Amino acid sequence: MDFTEEHITTDFLIIGGGAAGMRAAIELARSGDVLVATKDSPSESSTEYAQGGVAVALSDEDEISIHYDDTMQAGDGLCNRGAVKTLVAEGPMRIRELILWGAEFDREGTKLAFTQEAAHTKRRILHAHGDSTGREIMRVLLDKVRSFNKVTKLDFAFTQNLIVRNGRCTGAVVLQQPEGKQLVVTARAVICATGGTGQVYERTTNPGVATGDGLAMAYRAGAALMDMEFIQFHPTALFLSGAPQFLLSEAMRGEGGMLRNIHGFRFLEQYHPARELAPRDVVTRAIHSELNATETDHVYLDMTHLTNDYVMKRFPRIYTTCKELGVDITREPIPVSPAAHYIMGGVKTDLWGATNIPGLFAAGETACTGVHGANRLASNSLLEGLVFGERAGLAAARYATKRKNRLLSGLSASPINGRQATRSRNPRRSATPLDSRDADHIQMSLKKLMSDAVGIVRDRKKLSAALKQLRAWERMTAIAEPHRSAGELQNMITTSLLIARSALLREGSVGAHFRNDFPNKGKGWRKRVVIRK
Ligand code: FAD
Ligand code: SIN
Repeated sequence: MDFTEEHITTDFLIIGGGAAGMRAAIELARSGDVLVATKDSPSESSTEYAQGGVAVALSDEDEISIHYDDTMQAGDGLCNRGAVKTLVAEGPMRIRELILWGAEFDREGTKLAFTQEAAHTKRRILHAHGDSTGREIMRVLLDKVRSFNKVTKLDFAFTQNLIVRNGRCTGAVVLQQPEGKQLVVTARAVICATGGTGQVYERTTNPGVATGDGLAMAYRAGAALMDMEFIQFHPTALFLSGAPQFLLSEAMRGEGGMLRNIHGFRFLEQYHPARELAPRDVVTRAIHSELNATETDHVYLDMTHLTNDYVMKRFPRIYTTCKELGVDITREPIPVSPAAHYIMGGVKTDLWGATNIPGLFAAGETACTGVHGANRLASNSLLEGLVFGERAGLAAARYATKRKNRLLSGLSASPINGRQATRSRNPRRSATPLDSRDADHIQMSLKKLMSDAVGIVRDRKKLSAALKQLRAWERMTAIAEPHRSAGELQNMITTSLLIARSALLREGSVGAHFRNDFPNKGKGWRKRVVIRK
């Protein structure tokens, strides 16, 4: 790798260091120099915070075809069959290899221990250290990556924009913190693995880095985005004044946790025969309607009927975190309410992570293969990162080799007088940058707007008003100082606009997308909403 003050040339650039990015890096390290840029410290990713586990058909009582059926069922008719087949069939290989590399999943005796989560018909969720599955997966991936001297990590490196030259993605512009130095990274192929966008909502389980940067920059660069209306709200995030919106894993319900309304009534039996283990979107909407009916802002997750020892041993991180926040989950029901958790949509890719822009690949939560359809089956996304991260790595390596061979044999497709490189800048319409107080105000208002109008229950009137407001904010923030926070705000506005536009276009209710004014699936519901600049 050749470093100069403002320019880095590498073979492969991966934007994002969660499960998808790191798994791709392991594959690419066999084919050249790899630079992995992450926005914050290495541990700031959704992967690191993943609790419940990773779904995989490895238990004696399970089969790949049953995992396939459960995933298809949860996706409410909109899963891409090929993507689901790939996920469930390649999943066991990716997990076995992780175990070979040192992953310590929990065991009962010598056998792997599997837990239950909603909408799974089998106990198939592997977990590590009780409720620290993501952390264990990251530990192993990072160790593996370190074993290759071909991979360089650039942390606190906020990627601002992709570079597109002659219709091909050839790198990205990165702002290195804290110096604020701008680096132009040129690469033979780029993989975008920047995770989700939960931060556009007031209540979210996602870490601060989840501001939809990859989605927004891919959109600016001309990539197609699909299924952006499908936002998954996790039913149970801690609801406590002044406390973080800490996730209370679905595995807690899998192990017997019950949901009760503020009167102590186990209300889910009125909504779905599977009660606490109904699909996630159903449980979330049931809580939403229960909150309205009881005119309150939370329900309770009750674990008090389970033995103290069991709860503390099975969910050590959750137990300790709640205890520190003043709730002893072995003795008292936990106040919870839904929070934005995962985006099913994203940068449209084929099953190898390829986007419509040659040279640009996407994997993990940022990508949309259609594998989750309209509602993701719990614990399928860590697996998604591993399976499709590996595939994107392989495909990017193949792309770079093919292109090199073409260039060497003089068959380059690039026209001699081709277009100049474009850095897909953010739109420039306003004259002066916003001051930081106004920017903070917009950010807070945006989260509120998205939660009220583009949240669990939607309708045309609110969505149209939200779009109008978002467009106004887009104009106001068009010129941004070259700071991470200003770039993030622009990305949050862009992502919010894409979610709201897609939600308005889908006049029907499918999976996690629910329209009050169109409560049924409606005509043509199988059509996907695809948006391009
Ligand atoms: P992430 O792991 O989110 O990584 C994103 C990376 O991109 C980070 O390194 C970040 O720094 C970087 N990045 C972002 N923007 C930029 C930028 N502009 N420039 C440079 N770098 C950037 N799924 C399961 O399957 N099982 C679970 O038990 C589970 N539990 C969860 C619990 C919580 C609290 C949360 C939030 C999610 C959970 N999920 C779970 C979902 C799952 O963790 C994520 O979908 C998955 O880990 C996403 O992986 P990823 O590699 O795509 O992105
Ligand atoms: C959880 O532990 O409830 C999160 C699982 C997931 O989002 O897949």
